[in-house]
Amino acid sequence: MSKIIDGKIISTAVKERVKNEVVELNKKGISVGLAVIIVGEDPASKVYVANKKKACEALGIISEEYALSENTTQEELLALIQKLNNSPKINGILCQLPLPSHLDEKLIINSIDPEKDVDAFHPVNVGKIMIGDYYFLPCTPAGVMEMLSFEGIEVEGKNCVVIGRSNIVGKPMNMLLLHKNGTVTICHSKTKNLVEICKNADILVAAVGRPNFVTADMVKDGAVVIDVGINRVDGKLCGDVMFDEVSKKASAITPVPGGVGPMTIAMLMQNTLTAAKKQNNLI
Ligand code: GUN
Repeated sequence: MSKIIDGKIISTAVKERVKNEVVELNKKGISVGLAVIIVGEDPASKVYVANKKKACEALGIISEEYALSENTTQEELLALIQKLNNSPKINGILCQLPLPSHLDEKLIINSIDPEKDVDAFHPVNVGKIMIGDYYFLPCTPAGVMEMLSFEGIEVEGKNCVVIGRSNIVGKPMNMLLLHKNGTVTICHSKTKNLVEICKNADILVAAVGRPNFVTADMVKDGAVVIDVGINRVDGKLCGDVMFDEVSKKASAITPVPGGVGPMTIAMLMQNTLTAAKKQNNLI
């Protein structure tokens, strides 16, 4: 049986660290503020946004929520972002994705000031991650790296396989593992011999978005398995990994729920703190 990597414990440690730093900034008269924009009524997005707001409140971070109607125009959304870009009270801006289809996601992301882009989705920040010169970490991959570090799992020289190539998870995950000197392979829907490649992984990261996609026959004995998936099957939350059978082979594994999920919000809080420090010339 493998070690269960507990995202609740690790995210609590990260949030405690952030909370203490927020207190120190407040003592210097510096507040920390995050604006979260949500457009429309997507139920999953509403839950994510509510959780982000709750986390801010617990850490002393000022949160402003902008819940806009489904038929908000591009001009209205751009005007709001412009206002927040210019607001000294707001250090971080997050626009919850996906946006309704009439809005141009790329244009919206590009309109956020890169210094306030706590998602690290803006091309400037993506480019910085590529060259290893970044201050904002993409939240989910950064959460995974934090978990590996917390558990003392060395990345250097390891075969790391990431299943999934999204801009939010797969691609930045690859870069963060590479910066730690892992040997990284990214797999996707067109990959040939997926099972053989995965079986060679010392660290296997599943970010496919398909329930129970990773089965025991794809996993090497003693591998570390990180499950980034959040899927709903018959109303029940499950990851991309067939947990029951894979946990018998892995040396360590993250559960769903209670694994990577809580880490994403903790890292968002950390990025918001970093934004405030950077905007006040403290880093
Ligand atoms: N939708 C799902 N995950 C995310 C995220 O990390 N950031 C934003 N902005 N939207 C999301």
